[in-house]
Amino acid sequence: MNIYLLLNWKMNSTLIESAHLVEKYIEFLLDAPELLKVTIFPPAPYIFPLYEKLANTNSVTVGAQNVFEEPFGAYTGEISPIMISEACSYVMVGHSERRTYFNETNSSINKKIHLIMNNSLTPVLCVGEDLDTYNSGQVDEFIELQIKSACDNIKNIPANRFIVAYEPTWAIGSGLTPPPEIINERALLIKNVITDMGLMTDNASCPVLYGGSVNSINAKSFLELDNIAGLLIGQASLDLNQIGSIINQAFRQAKNNSKLI
Ligand code: 13P
Repeated sequence: MNIYLLLNWKMNSTLIESAHLVEKYIEFLLDAPELLKVTIFPPAPYIFPLYEKLANTNSVTVGAQNVFEEPFGAYTGEISPIMISEACSYVMVGHSERRTYFNETNSSINKKIHLIMNNSLTPVLCVGEDLDTYNSGQVDEFIELQIKSACDNIKNIPANRFIVAYEPTWAIGSGLTPPPEIINERALLIKNVITDMGLMTDNASCPVLYGGSVNSINAKSFLELDNIAGLLIGQASLDLNQIGSIINQAFRQAKNNSKLI
């Protein structure tokens, strides 16, 4: 099983800082097992320069934090998946910051997913409850609705061409996380919803990742979970001590996985 580390820089770093970060990641990933998949999600203007910088390595790939739901047109300031498809392998969609600050709805998320997949990119669908929903005990229903509406009319996706990141809104940037056993249960729920929807071809694997206040201390407890195939990391991905340690831990987990094949 692949281990994914998706590094979401959000709206941080200068171009010079971002090039330095990438050089360090490459150093950390020397001799990394093939099962360890590391992708950076830089601010949009850095996608192509970093893609070019990474041309001679396959240890780090590039993803996009967001795209628009139409292929081309009079949409000032927006970016089409077609425009980044040469440089990117993955596109994040439905991140809670997009839902909260930019009023992104499940129906626009659904349009984006169709367009992303039609352009041979892999969507990373972010789902997760807010604190009120967490306290109300209705989390399963909430997540199920997010997945079903985001994936309406999508079927038969090949293995590993669709990723779901479970990121509770209240865990993002707060230093709080659900207990690992709850994360494992939620990841199983997500897998079951996807199976029931017939989203993947022949029930092929759809990696489920965890995101929200991941750091070098708690990363191992999430990486070890049966139903979790990796991490979506914000703040800690910009801190070289933190990310160096997390990459090391994922490295070991991927080596263990290689032995199981
Ligand atoms: P933090 O790791 O900073 O909590 O952010 C998580 C996140 O939003 C990744 O997409």
